[in-house]
Amino acid sequence: MVIHPPLSLLLALATAHSSYAAPPSYNSSNSSLAHAPYKNPSVPTETRVQDLLSRMTIEEKTAQLLQGDLSNWLNVTDGSFNQTGLELNFEQKAGQFYVGYPILWDWLATNIRIGQDYAVNNTRLGIPAIVQTEGIHGFLIGNATIFNSPIGYACSWNRSHAEQMGLQIGREARALGVSQVFAPLADLARELRYGRVEETFGEDGFLAGEIAFSYIRGVQALNVSAMVKHYAAYSMPEQGLNTGPVHIGERELRTTWLPSYKRAIIGAGAYAVMSAYDSLDGVPQVADYHTLTEILREEWGYEYFVSSDAGATDRLASPFNVCPSPLNKFGQDVSEGNECVTLNALPAGGDVEMGGGSFNYRAIPSLVAANRLPLAAVDTAVSRVLRTKFHLGLFEQPYQIAPKAEWNNIINTPAAKQLAREIDRDSIVLLKNEQATLPISKSAKVAVIGPMADGFVNYGDYVVYESQYRGVTPLAGIQNALGNSSVSYAQGCERWSLDQSGFPAAVAAAEAADVAVVVVGTWSRDQVELWEGLNATTGEHVDVDSLDLVGAMRPLLQAVINTSTPVVVVLSSGKPVTESWLSNTTASLLQQFYPSQEGGDALADILFGDVNPSGKLSVSFPHSVGDLPVYYDYLNSGRGGATDSGFLGADGVLQFGHQYVLGTPQAWFPFGFGLSYTSFAYSNVTLSSTNVTASDTITATVQLTNNGTRDGAEVVQLYVKDVLASVDVPNLRLRGFEKVMVKAGETVSVGIEVAVGDLGVWGKGMVYGVEPGQFNVYVGAGSGDLRGSAAFFVG
Ligand SMILES: *[C@@H]1O[C@H](CO)[C@@H](O)[C@H](O)[C@H]1NC(C)=O
Ligand SMILES: *[C@@H]1O[C@H](CO)[C@@H](O)[C@H](O)[C@H]1NC(C)=O
Ligand SMILES: *[C@@H]1O[C@H](CO)[C@@H](O)[C@H](O)[C@H]1NC(C)=O
Ligand SMILES: *[C@@H]1O[C@H](CO)[C@@H](O)[C@H](O)[C@H]1NC(C)=O
Ligand SMILES: *[C@@H]1O[C@H](CO)[C@@H](O)[C@H](O)[C@H]1NC(C)=O
Ligand SMILES: *[C@@H]1O[C@H](CO)[C@@H](O)[C@H](O)[C@H]1NC(C)=O
Ligand SMILES: *[C@@H]1O[C@H](CO)[C@@H](O)[C@H](O)[C@H]1NC(C)=O
Ligand SMILES: *[C@@H]1O[C@H](CO)[C@@H](O)[C@H](O)[C@H]1NC(C)=O
Ligand SMILES: *[C@@H]1O[C@H](CO)[C@@H](O)[C@H](O)[C@H]1NC(C)=O
Ligand SMILES: *[C@@H]1O[C@H](CO)[C@@H](O)[C@H](O)[C@H]1NC(C)=O
Ligand SMILES: *[C@@H]1O[C@H](CO)[C@@H](O)[C@H](O)[C@H]1NC(C)=O
Ligand SMILES: *[C@@H]1O[C@H](CO)[C@@H](O)[C@H](O)[C@H]1NC(C)=O
Repeated sequence: MVIHPPLSLLLALATAHSSYAAPPSYNSSNSSLAHAPYKNPSVPTETRVQDLLSRMTIEEKTAQLLQGDLSNWLNVTDGSFNQTGLELNFEQKAGQFYVGYPILWDWLATNIRIGQDYAVNNTRLGIPAIVQTEGIHGFLIGNATIFNSPIGYACSWNRSHAEQMGLQIGREARALGVSQVFAPLADLARELRYGRVEETFGEDGFLAGEIAFSYIRGVQALNVSAMVKHYAAYSMPEQGLNTGPVHIGERELRTTWLPSYKRAIIGAGAYAVMSAYDSLDGVPQVADYHTLTEILREEWGYEYFVSSDAGATDRLASPFNVCPSPLNKFGQDVSEGNECVTLNALPAGGDVEMGGGSFNYRAIPSLVAANRLPLAAVDTAVSRVLRTKFHLGLFEQPYQIAPKAEWNNIINTPAAKQLAREIDRDSIVLLKNEQATLPISKSAKVAVIGPMADGFVNYGDYVVYESQYRGVTPLAGIQNALGNSSVSYAQGCERWSLDQSGFPAAVAAAEAADVAVVVVGTWSRDQVELWEGLNATTGEHVDVDSLDLVGAMRPLLQAVINTSTPVVVVLSSGKPVTESWLSNTTASLLQQFYPSQEGGDALADILFGDVNPSGKLSVSFPHSVGDLPVYYDYLNSGRGGATDSGFLGADGVLQFGHQYVLGTPQAWFPFGFGLSYTSFAYSNVTLSSTNVTASDTITATVQLTNNGTRDGAEVVQLYVKDVLASVDVPNLRLRGFEKVMVKAGETVSVGIEVAVGDLGVWGKGMVYGVEPGQFNVYVGAGSGDLRGSAAFFVG
């Protein structure tokens, strides 16, 4: 979603008083409809849908397929109310309305209530709207709980965490009247140049599907709808450029990309789906009958609605050139271009048109009248919207706004903060622990260094304006743990600068300390600053052609590592950074993907050993951007055979190889990798059966021993290899995982189920089937750290 808030917003937010007008007087609902079947919750949903549909005019149907906006009746700058805007909104764009503005809670709740009451009481049929905002790592409103970014919380590999987060986001959203969040993503991080890597659950479809599933179960338990985005396979654009074309063949689409969407949409029962901006193999996804109808509806049986992304339908005219320009704006006559967009997108399965563009779907009534668009196509789309509304319970309860006095007991509560801290610390990945520098003793003198250490919280995108000034920075977290007297701080450099004039102070701080903690990485911006174009290195529409640290950050690391003080480098980022030379230094290394508002305290929990690190990478780290793609589940013919790597030796001598001449296609850190302050031994992998059929479910069991001296949690990962297949298939695929806490010295038995039917191949005729033969099951601590195996046979 792209929002363009007025610049005057900055002024508005400084003034905390509201001046909106008193709500208008309302009429009661049309009493002759009071006993209509669609108003009766005891009538079956499909009957209600058909009853309501049969009463609707074509204009009313069209209005259900267009997204309205809170700003039509609320001036989000000064809080003033606009009655004409309210009436027009619900006459023309009544299906849903967007509310993702950085405004006061009270403005939001009051004006959502005004909108919904108007929809219910003052429109002919009284159809409530769906109230929409963002929520990928927190409900998008000021002072709501900010969780760590999706790429981060996926590293916790904890389904329960994702579900608890979904619940909290749902609780906060509904307390102010919101009924739908544009979350989660089921896209995969397989093109790391792309700016939105941080919004994904990483590179693997199974992990992403499980985390998305759990989030949706949480949020929808409170009758707040998820909207799974961006269907389908949006995140591997050409050149890594946002909205760029995606070139994925049908087999790769089905094998690798679609499972996470299916798990989220069908598995978790998501009430809405958002289509993607890009073209997939040349077909614009807003109008792709194959993915939106043949796969999503006919194969999967999805029955709710699909919305386009903001302004996405307009792209059929420009840049796709599928439809003629111009597209006339709302209020102007419908153009040939508007008609073309509607005729392409709606019958393909693009049910709802989001705002941010030309509102092409207002062409529906005239197209139907001219027999150019079948009424049945409109009815199908409208019935999907109504089905979502009935299942969400909106007709019975158009909003779940909590009394104002309760808001602080629901939003950003101590329990929510605690949850954010737990998820964050369980997501931090220990990449390297040189000479057991970590955990740091609490009696140590610690120098905190680096541009991401203080002054702002290094949040990912999709946080509300000025969020970065709220939350616990790494410096604050370390001070909270140790007290101010044993902690020194030096920024070293600005994140966006080449200026090294701060290095002497940083080096001096390191030298005077027992341990130096240096926090560097990438950065994004809040939703206002991002779209204003302020400098950033990740986030929506912020793509890179290098994954190295920017500016003076690498020299800063080198300067601090060159002191004799032990160094802990904390990579605070939204995607992998490629500083693999760190492996050949004495520095220890932690990865904290964009943090929660409790990020500094979560980091301190790990640094000082109050919590044993248990995060595992949701995405592989390459050595260089030139190695992309670097995901672990390459096809059998992929990099596995490449063993002749070259490099620039520490002695400065060039060592030539062939794959690559001066590099390696192997990951720096592979998917699933992560260390602990304890160690685990895996033994005795067994399978519940070894000769099976495609309809069986087998259980793999492994004995997991914590053979170190600290309690710790381990993510037991199960990978499967299809030994012989009729086509080139992934060499290895994650098919199950369990995260378990094991006390020091103890052994637990961990069982993981695998449904054999999920292990099929999209064969040469693009027919799915489990092929007979041998399958190897590997159990281990990461995709590159397989500790035990067993085989089974499909007859
Ligand atoms: C309420 O609606 C009825 C028709 O249902 C109309 O006759 C009446 O004037 C309306 N009252 C107000 C206050 O708008
Ligand atoms: C909203 O209010 C501001 C400040 O009063 C004003 O400058 C702006 O024009 C208003 N916006 C709209 C859309 O009316
Ligand atoms: C109120 O909304 C109407 C309809 O969109 C618009 O024409 C008018 O300019 C708005 N008035 C103000 C004061 O913003
Ligand atoms: C309008 O509708 C709401 C439900 O959205 C209801 O709670 C409220 O009482 C109604 N108000 C009036 C004035 O009829
Ligand atoms: C109330 O609903 C009935 C049945 O749909 C319709 O005939 C009538 O025009 C409606 N009244 C108003 C004021 O909208
Ligand atoms: C957030 O809290 C701050 C400090 O209490 C307050 O000034 C600001 O208005 C709040 N913002 C919102 C959107 O509630
Ligand atoms: C997973 O998360 C839940 C709560 O969200 C927590 O209680 C549990 O301890 C976590 N599991 C592990 C193994 O860390
Ligand atoms: C980056 O943005 C900041 C504002 O956040 C600004 O102060 C700084 O000058 C910018 N630096 C560069 C090099 O663009
Ligand atoms: C570390 O240095 C050795 C020898 O110089 C080299 O083989 C290896 O690739 C380097 N490791 C990394 C991660 O750069
Ligand atoms: C624990 O087990 C691992 C894996 O078998 C082994 O590498 C390690 O040496 C063991 N550690 C101890 C302390 O026994
Ligand atoms: C593994 O199996 C062997 C043989 O049955 C047994 O002796 C051993 O105790 C088992 N190890 C664990 C950790 O359960
Ligand atoms: C299981 O299948 C394999 C491979 O087909 C075969 O060699 C083996 O005898 C079978 N085992 C049993 C118990 O049927």
